[in-house]
Amino acid sequence: MDKNFYITTPIYYPSAKPHMGHAYSSIIADFFARFKKIDGFNVYFLTGTDEHGLKIQRAAEKKGVKPLQFCDEISETFRNLSKTLNLTNTDFIRTTEKRHKISVQNLWNVLEKNDDIYLSKYSGWYSVSDEAFYSDEEVEEVDGIKIANASKSTVEWMDEESYFFRLSKWEEKLLHYYEQNPDFISPKSRRNEVISFVKSGLKDLSISRKSFSWGIKVPNNNEHIIYVWLDALTNYLSALNYPNTNDDLFKNFWPASLHLIGKDILRFHAVYWPAFLLAAKIPLPKKVYGHGWILSGEEKMSKSKGNILDPIEIIDQYGLDPLRYYLIKEVSFGNDGNISRDRLEDCINSDLANNFGNLCQRVIAFTFKNCDGKIPNNIKFNKDDLKILDKFTKNLEIIRNKIDNQDVNFYIDFIVNSLFEANKYFNDQEPWKKKDDNKRLNTIVYTSLEIIRKISFMLYPIIPVSSLNALKIFDINENQIEFSSITNHLYLKSNEKINKIDILFQKIEKKNND
Ligand code: MSP
Repeated sequence: MDKNFYITTPIYYPSAKPHMGHAYSSIIADFFARFKKIDGFNVYFLTGTDEHGLKIQRAAEKKGVKPLQFCDEISETFRNLSKTLNLTNTDFIRTTEKRHKISVQNLWNVLEKNDDIYLSKYSGWYSVSDEAFYSDEEVEEVDGIKIANASKSTVEWMDEESYFFRLSKWEEKLLHYYEQNPDFISPKSRRNEVISFVKSGLKDLSISRKSFSWGIKVPNNNEHIIYVWLDALTNYLSALNYPNTNDDLFKNFWPASLHLIGKDILRFHAVYWPAFLLAAKIPLPKKVYGHGWILSGEEKMSKSKGNILDPIEIIDQYGLDPLRYYLIKEVSFGNDGNISRDRLEDCINSDLANNFGNLCQRVIAFTFKNCDGKIPNNIKFNKDDLKILDKFTKNLEIIRNKIDNQDVNFYIDFIVNSLFEANKYFNDQEPWKKKDDNKRLNTIVYTSLEIIRKISFMLYPIIPVSSLNALKIFDINENQIEFSSITNHLYLKSNEKINKIDILFQKIEKKNND
């Protein structure tokens, strides 16, 4: 079995500072990366910034600075955000780096050599905000302004000499690939959207621009720069040192296991990208997953709509782990999700402070009072203990499988239910009434500690800092977390001392919102 796992986030436009939608893509990718890591995989996790194109050039002009200087500054805020979000990314790529330029120009040369590129003229609609071409049918007029149906962004007419990629030539091959690889585009609903788009007929794609200069030059024709999406998509290869296909990174990690993206950029990843790769005879990524949007009210949160919830502000106020937990739990993965401070506060209070935090504190306090602060010995599991412990064993393979199908909701529901059952178990078993049955008392405490350990392991991909704080009870460190060990019911060593820990989550005093 392939034990290498390559996951990517979209590379972000550094046109403005990061918002919650960007944080969401990155946090979810980090969740998968961390899970795979504790499940024994070698993980390569890539994120970065997408710095070329007219959108960035105009944003820089507006500020009166050179595009590179503009990008340096904002790209740094994205790099900092990766740290603030506690991402385990292995690399952070910028499309203005030399390694990337080499890779893009090389891919261009291969496409040209394979007769997939020709020079002609483009006349049609272009949205600078989406950096996308639109057909007449995809454009409508609202209040005298032409906008793209899908994104509602303004389009402008473009009329210029351009190189084209023979996208139409790959229509059948793409449809065949989707059919042979039913999971390539996920979730299913998005797959259908893409298939009908391709079936409606693919036109050749304009892949160069002449009327501005901020980008990677077309090899052998300095007047043209390469279309920003062809440039940007190639980041997934350049980070692995393409065109050096003998490089270990490339050999180990290509094809990518998962391109995690937002649904708005599915066409680029599920149509154009595989077509470029087919044309260049490079293996196709295993999966493209298009997640939903973070909404504010009923609308997509975005800079242009001015309805941004700033992730940094939220983190300063509530802490990182609560935000990670909230986004992973409350936004049903694959669908759009509305977020609010109110719901975030409920989540902190009920799930994190009450359900998880309290369980840890209760069991620790009881262990100190009744078992000398040590992991009990002299234990014998009965059927109640085994029932709650065996749930982890029974679900090990199921959880792996769900993760491979990006069923984040299953994973988090499993944890929430386990926490609920663990609290119930401790209440129902009433260890405080077993003071004259030492073996039973010990067994209940051992079982409860074992469950805290298992749940903390499972929480690691979601709330890494808090999970590690909880694992301080047992002096377990990050490198010791192994997902497969949730099936071991005797992981904890009897007679070892446990540690008291600080309160994991402070409850939020809720303001009366009425
Ligand atoms: N630069 C391109 C991606 C190139 S990948 C080769 C781009 N950048 S972006 O900054 O506009 O968006 C990056 C990601 O953030 C996209 O996946 C997009 O879907 C996601 N989000 C932006 N706003 C969002 C929400 N409000 N909610 C969730 N994700 C959204 O597109």
